Amino acid sequence: MPSTSKMAQLKTDLERSLDRRASVARYRANRRHTRELFDVVAPEAYETRPIELRNPIVFYEGHLPAFSVNTLVKKGLGRPGIDPRFEVLFERGIDPEDESAVPGTPAGWPSREAIRAYGRAADDAIVAALLNDDVAREDNPVLSGGLAVETILEHERMHQETLLYLWHRLPHDQKRAPTGAPRPVLGGDAPARRRVRVPAGRATLGAKRGEIPFGWDNEFQEHAVLVPEFQIDVHDVTNRDYLEFVRAGCYDREDLWSEEGWRWRTEHGVRHPVFWERRNGELRWRGMFEELPLAPAWPVFVSHAEASAYARWRDSRLPTEPEFHRAAYGTPSGAERAFPWGDEPPDPSRANFDFATWDPVPVGSFPAGASAWGIHDLLGNGWEWTSTVFAPFPGFEPMPSYPVYSTDFFDGKHWVMKGGSLATGKELLRRSVRNWFRGNYPYVYATFRTVKSE
Ligand SMILES: [Fe+2]
Repeated sequence: MPSTSKMAQLKTDLERSLDRRASVARYRANRRHTRELFDVVAPEAYETRPIELRNPIVFYEGHLPAFSVNTLVKKGLGRPGIDPRFEVLFERGIDPEDESAVPGTPAGWPSREAIRAYGRAADDAIVAALLNDDVAREDNPVLSGGLAVETILEHERMHQETLLYLWHRLPHDQKRAPTGAPRPVLGGDAPARRRVRVPAGRATLGAKRGEIPFGWDNEFQEHAVLVPEFQIDVHDVTNRDYLEFVRAGCYDREDLWSEEGWRWRTEHGVRHPVFWERRNGELRWRGMFEELPLAPAWPVFVSHAEASAYARWRDSRLPTEPEFHRAAYGTPSGAERAFPWGDEPPDPSRANFDFATWDPVPVGSFPAGASAWGIHDLLGNGWEWTSTVFAPFPGFEPMPSYPVYSTDFFDGKHWVMKGGSLATGKELLRRSVRNWFRGNYPYVYATFRTVKSE
């Protein structure tokens, strides 16, 4: 019989090998899902750029494996990569201020065949590293605690959402729905607009280092904020609500818009959300695979500029990031929850997330997911804009595995979004996750609700 210390050693060895196999399974599942998403796009659209402010589709098929190699194999394990040219070409995405600032792209992209071959070689290298190398060694800040491994896994999950909203901009004849794709649920009329009162209290933002298995640098450190009492919409602003704003001529009322928002509105001739299309005088929804009626009960997807103008028109405002936390995770007793409904992990009865649908579902579809104050859909269906400028929390430190992840965006021009969308992976629904975009970026699955102070 092995000695006690030998038993303990065997136990840690077993745990390590289970961890390794779990990481490989997650990596493989990610790659499979990414491939399925690329299969949606017709080959002729491969080098097109569905959103002017982002790279063409081809970039992302190279970016995902190249990022994993750059982060885990090169930076983490200190070994050479697979193809230095690809690992520079596909290193990082873009976020220009407007169309005139879009950086140049190469005269010709590598062939799809070459990119796919690179992806396969990268997958082999990553899987081999996960199985055999000391990928969590504590004396290396990039690897310590599995940092680089988690970074590449969540990076791919986040980009799957990028892919989905890019695909949303493609013409319908350049996409094919996977077999068995769920049909859109249009629902009936939207629920009546209603607010609830959230009393003054504490909101805990961020997370403590070491207390969650992984977080991006901007999630640290944990800190409490005292939030004064406010009233908040029980439901996200719906297409029906927002149609009133459009019909009231608010896209012509400069007084409702910020200076930057008005410039964007006029320079781009924006007359309604980009998820809407005008057909023979009628407003319709630009669905993922077909044009649909404008479902009144779906959350409206808009830019921060549009959300802010709507809120001003309703004589209200967008919630701050602490107010969102208080609405989502606070309780009358003062205790705070991990999720709006409690501490049980997300499941499909609580919210619409993790690619369950290709378009949103009606607001209020998940009573079991409501917060302690009876506020619906705080997680999933659509991210929620806040009035908080994206900035570091006290105690912020750039993450060793990806030091420029957040720092490049602390420029006062990006706004925090919370909550997650229909295309947000389950692990990214953790409380401390923060997302951010420029105020004039209208392509994301982002909705909002309004608040009023007492
Ligand atoms: Fe990326």
